[in-house]
Amino acid sequence: MKTQVAIIGAGPAGLLLGHLLRAAGVACVILERQSRAYVEARIRAGVLERTTTDLLHRLGIDARLNAEGLPHHGFGLVDGERTVRIDVAALTGHAVTVYGQTEVTRDLIAAAPERGLDIIWEAGDVALHDVDSSAPFLTWADGQRLDTDFIAGCDGFHGPSRAALPAAVQKSFECVYPFGWLGILADVPPCDDELIYANHDNGFALASMRSPTRSRYYIQVPDGERMDNWPDDRLWDELALRLGPAGARIVRGPALEKSIAPLRSFVCEPMQHGRLFLAGDCAHVVPPTGAKGLNLAASDVAYLSAALIGFYHDGDEALLHGYSARAAARVWKAERFSWQLTKLMHRFPEDGRFERRMQLAELDYIAGSVAAQTAIAENYVGLPL
Ligand code: APR
Ligand code: PHB
Repeated sequence: MKTQVAIIGAGPAGLLLGHLLRAAGVACVILERQSRAYVEARIRAGVLERTTTDLLHRLGIDARLNAEGLPHHGFGLVDGERTVRIDVAALTGHAVTVYGQTEVTRDLIAAAPERGLDIIWEAGDVALHDVDSSAPFLTWADGQRLDTDFIAGCDGFHGPSRAALPAAVQKSFECVYPFGWLGILADVPPCDDELIYANHDNGFALASMRSPTRSRYYIQVPDGERMDNWPDDRLWDELALRLGPAGARIVRGPALEKSIAPLRSFVCEPMQHGRLFLAGDCAHVVPPTGAKGLNLAASDVAYLSAALIGFYHDGDEALLHGYSARAAARVWKAERFSWQLTKLMHRFPEDGRFERRMQLAELDYIAGSVAAQTAIAENYVGLPL
């Protein structure tokens, strides 16, 4: 088999890249390790920046997004009994859209056949070869082979693409947080019209939603926490406690899904080596505070698709050479924002009374400063491409 761009991974990065390339007539194939059913069932975050929704509109894969996406004009930062509302729309002129990553993924997969985007599901043991030659190729399963001009590594944090960068050229930067998020999804109305990020003596909590009838909540739990320590009743009690005034309005219901995810900040540079280009979680991870993960995957592939299309349409290699620097510049700013919001809103086991006062002073400053609120709002809504 031969193609122009071989994409590893059918998460948001790989699927969006595939559609952007197909829309410009570039041939590509996606190899995905998991089954379609598995990928479609994965529960992830749910806040889309305008940069991300713009891509979906441009592709015309937006019917369900337009019908079901919820525009959100602000969100709350709660500390104990105090709430500071960040009026994103008034401060930036833009809104974000609450629409689950799971739904984005389903829409992109459903639109693939009619647009000639081939996805090979359950492709085991994908291996990258000769990435720094002009004729790279992939192999998988029992001796299947795909020859290609370029490889796009969109295979998430644990995929094989990042490891194909020689150790001598790869620099990585990492911060692992000493806690995780325990999430619950339930078919109950949200406790508030807007998202609420809360810092409480017992730790962080987030009230989010997928629709007017489906809620998504999270609490900070210690590293290595076991799910059996959190029967539904205990989790609902804890959410009610940590979420401040909105906690009293929580409607409880059976869990559709419950899971614990670790928090990590990670960046690998460069995001390119030879004919291999990295995009999304395989090159960088953010903690979910601020919901930047999917949106960064989308901005990476906006840059990468433009670079590849420039190469095929005009023979111009400049954007390809500049990809890593351009993408990483935006990534680092989102890393900074996610890290800072994580530091502001969580209880760190190593922190003492001084660090706690710093959190309170920062929140107090944000409450009284339009400049500080604007800085948060413009990052939350998404920095321009
Ligand atoms: N071969 C083929 N596919 C692979 C392999 C492999 N060896 N390893 C991983 N994959 C697939 C995974 O099964 C997954 O479907 O790559 C895909 C990567 O998708 P994501 O992890 O969703 O990463 P990305 O597309 O970069 O999207 C980033 O998704 O995970 C969230 O928090 C993350 O919101 C962020 C966004
Ligand atoms: C979610 O709805 O899953 C969500 C929302 C906002 C975040 C993280 C996760 O910052």
